[in-house]
Amino acid sequence: MWRGAVSSDLPKAEFYAELATQVEGLIAEEPDSIANMANCAALIFHSVPRLNWAGFYLLKGGELVLGPFQGAPACIRIPLGSGVCGKAAQDRAVLRVADVTKFPDHIACDTASRSEIVLPMTSADSFLLGVLDVDSPEVNRFDEQDEAGLRKIAQLVAAKL
Ligand code: SME
Repeated sequence: MWRGAVSSDLPKAEFYAELATQVEGLIAEEPDSIANMANCAALIFHSVPRLNWAGFYLLKGGELVLGPFQGAPACIRIPLGSGVCGKAAQDRAVLRVADVTKFPDHIACDTASRSEIVLPMTSADSFLLGVLDVDSPEVNRFDEQDEAGLRKIAQLVAAKL
């Protein structure tokens, strides 16, 4: 059950621990993956400070296709290897871009985005399922603690896909 946005006054490690607990609570009893991703995108967007976009791209037919998100309407299809999302997906590695204007292949869906973190979601047997993409209007918004916290959220959601 929704207990309200996680307080951004908490130290980051506690903030993300509480966010993960809320994600677990939201998705534990629900088998529908679209509903779970939609609620998680809303929870991230309304809890993590200073974001302009948070959502999911799912691997379908060999490319990333837009899934549930919060923020401005976004690019629908991203080929593997293209942009921050496609590169993170292709490499199965988290990509944390401090300044998207300096990432040569960045796909500017929302011109407000200045920094971005993309976290691949994989199955238990390491198959790529999609990515969690989070954007901020602030340069260098995401640090190691944001990465660790969001990595955990991506894993929780991936386990229910
Ligand atoms: N900027 C991303 C595209 C997705 S939007 O940020 C929602 C990229 O370069 O892959």
